[in-house]
Amino acid sequence: MAALIFPKDFLWGVATSAYQIEGAALEDGKGLSIWDTFSHIPGNCYNNLTGDVACDHYHLYQEDIKQMKKLGVNSYRFSFSWSRILPEGTGKVNTKGLDFYKRLVDGLLESGIVPNATIYHWDLPQALQDKGGWANRNIKDWYAEYASLLFREFSGIIPYWATLNEPIAVYIGYATAGIFPPGLGDEKLGKAAMHHAMLAHGEGIKAFRSENMKNGKIGVVVDIWNRHPARDCDEDRALALKENENSYRFFLNGMFKGIYSDYIQEQMKKEKTMPVIMPGDMELMCQKPDFYGLNVYNRVVVSADQEFLKNRNEQMKKKGGNFLDNGNEYYPEAAYDAITMFRNEYDAKMPIIVTENGTPNCNEEVIDGRFHDEDRIRYVNGFLEQIHRAIEEGANVKGYYLWSLLDNYEWSVATSYRFGLLHTDFETQERIWKDSANWYKKIIAENGVG
Ligand code: FCB
Repeated sequence: MAALIFPKDFLWGVATSAYQIEGAALEDGKGLSIWDTFSHIPGNCYNNLTGDVACDHYHLYQEDIKQMKKLGVNSYRFSFSWSRILPEGTGKVNTKGLDFYKRLVDGLLESGIVPNATIYHWDLPQALQDKGGWANRNIKDWYAEYASLLFREFSGIIPYWATLNEPIAVYIGYATAGIFPPGLGDEKLGKAAMHHAMLAHGEGIKAFRSENMKNGKIGVVVDIWNRHPARDCDEDRALALKENENSYRFFLNGMFKGIYSDYIQEQMKKEKTMPVIMPGDMELMCQKPDFYGLNVYNRVVVSADQEFLKNRNEQMKKKGGNFLDNGNEYYPEAAYDAITMFRNEYDAKMPIIVTENGTPNCNEEVIDGRFHDEDRIRYVNGFLEQIHRAIEEGANVKGYYLWSLLDNYEWSVATSYRFGLLHTDFETQERIWKDSANWYKKIIAENGVG
C-alpha cells in the first residue's frame, strides 16, 4: 500500500491540447489557426515540423481513450480547437468539428473518464489574428461567442472547464519574436494582449454563470514558474520580483483581486506600455471562478549577472546537484510553494486542480525492449509528495493531471521534446507504454504514492 494517500474522489488524469495532438489540420471544414500558419513558416519550428498530423488523435481518439482506460485515469484534460468549431472565429459553426468533440466526450463518459475541457489553449483562429487577435479589444466578444456556444453544446456532459490555458502565451506571442505566433516583438501589444486575455476570461465566467451549466465548474489555468534570486543581493532580488510581477502575478492579481499591482502599473507607465483600461474591466476579470488550475513544472533561478548564473549551474551539476539527466533542476517543492503562495496571498479555500505537471526527454529510447524513463518517475513522484504535503496542511487540492498522455507536438520544439507517458512513434502512430505509464497506473490504483 502507498504511504501517502490522496483524498477520496481525487481526480487522477492526463492532459493534452488540441493543436499538439489532433492533426487533421484542414479536415472536415476546420479553419486555420495561428499555429498552423506559424509552423508552416520555415525556420520557426524544430526541423520545420508542423502539427498537420501530430498524434493523429482526430482519427485515433478511440484508441487514445482505450489507452487512458488502461492507465486507469478517472479524468482527461483536453482543449477545443476554436477554428475547428468556428473556422472564421465567429459566425458560421462547423458542425463536423463540434461532432468530433461530442464523439470524444461520449467516448470518455462511456469509459468512466470525466472530461475537463480547456476552451482556449493557444490556437487562435487565423481569421481573428487577421483582425488583430489578442491585441484587439473585441477579442472579448469573439471569445464570449465561442465560449457560450461550447457551454450550450456541452452543458451537463462536461463537468470541468477552464477559460484559458496559461495566458502568458499571448504575451510571448505579441511581445517577443520567433517563439510563439504571431511573433510581433512589441512590448506594448504584449501588455494589451494580456489585458484583453483577462477580459476574455471574465466574459467566459460571465457566460458560464448565465447559461444553465448544471453542476459544471469553471476555472482558469495560470502557470507558476516562481523566480528565485541566485544571489542574496538587491539586483537579483529585483529581477526575480520583476519577472514574477510580469508573469503569474499579473494574471492572479487581476483575476483574483481585481487589481494590477502598484509595481506593474508603475512599470507600464514608465515603459509606456499601459493598456487601455475601461470602466468595469477590473470587475469583469475578477469574477470568482470555481477552481484555480495550476500548471507547475519547476522554479526558475535568476540573476542579473548571466555569467554568474551559467557558472553556478555548471558548478551545481558537476557537484552532483539536484538535476535530472535532461538538464533541468529537480525542484519538486515548486508545487508546494505555488499552492502555499496561492492560499496565503489569493484564496485559502478555493479548490485547486494541478492541471499540468511533467518533464521531457527521460531516456526516450528502447533498451531491452522498453522505455526506462526513471527520471520521469522520480520527478512526478517528488511533485506528488509535495502536493500531498500541501493537502496535509489544509490545501483543497482536487486533482492532478500529468502532462502528457503521449509524446506530442511540443509547439516550436515540435517532436524534439517528449513529455508522454506513452511513446508516440510519429511514423506509424503506434503508442508504446514507457515505464512511467506502468508506474502511474499503480499510483492511481492505490490513490497514493510512496
Ligand atoms: C505548458 C503548456 C503545454 C505544454 C507543456 C509542456 O506550458 O500548457 O501545452 O507545452 O507546457
